[in-house]
Amino acid sequence: MKKLFAANWKLHKTPAETRDFFRAFLPQTKTVAAEVVFFPPASSWEAAAQSIGSSANCFWGGQNVWSQAQGAFTGENSAQVLKELGGRYALVGHSERRSVFREDSSWMADKVAFVQGLGLTPVLCIGETLAERDSGQTNAVNARQLAEGLSKADVSRPLVVAYEPVWAIGTGRVAQPSQVAEAHAFIRRTLREKSFAETPILYGGSVKPENAGELLGLPDVNGFLVGGASLDPESFLKICKS
Ligand code: PGA
Repeated sequence: MKKLFAANWKLHKTPAETRDFFRAFLPQTKTVAAEVVFFPPASSWEAAAQSIGSSANCFWGGQNVWSQAQGAFTGENSAQVLKELGGRYALVGHSERRSVFREDSSWMADKVAFVQGLGLTPVLCIGETLAERDSGQTNAVNARQLAEGLSKADVSRPLVVAYEPVWAIGTGRVAQPSQVAEAHAFIRRTLREKSFAETPILYGGSVKPENAGELLGLPDVNGFLVGGASLDPESFLKICKS
């Protein structure tokens, strides 16, 4: 399976900063064998689209889109606009959407299905909190979030899953390789049971150039979803070459 490296920029980078990033990053991607996907904030989608152009292995997507094409949804991002501008991917259910913005887990299935229906690839984000891990619920939480997110998904269309333990996101506290391996093996088994056998599984949570190589060597780690370390072209490039 081809590796996939995704950059979640969260609420970082203006259009001008987005263009600066790609001026530094893109000339160096010829030596990257993997597929690379950027998730800029919606206000920088167009800048990302213009900068990336028709690059052979770099693409972009949205951090959050609503599950209907249009209507009275003040403040939401449109998946149709994303598609019109040439975006290919959309994150669904990132833990910051679930916790900070109180996104309901019952919305995930419709978002995944709508994004797939437009011919875009959803990246369904799942993962347990520290309290859930400490009380032995890691597998149960991942199973529940997969079941909720995939209940209306089309097995014949592209899909990506990102495992991001909430306690490892933005904390500098990366999960131990054994914890990552165990979670990815469980997610792989669960996806097989649901007939999503070929779905890439990304790891996310404090991935840095220093830990990327070891994590990428683990079975069923098909790439990364990187936050902080994706903001600097040099550091993200190192991860993409790991
Ligand atoms: P981080 O973020 O790499 O800064 O921990 C990952 C994410 O939230 O996707």
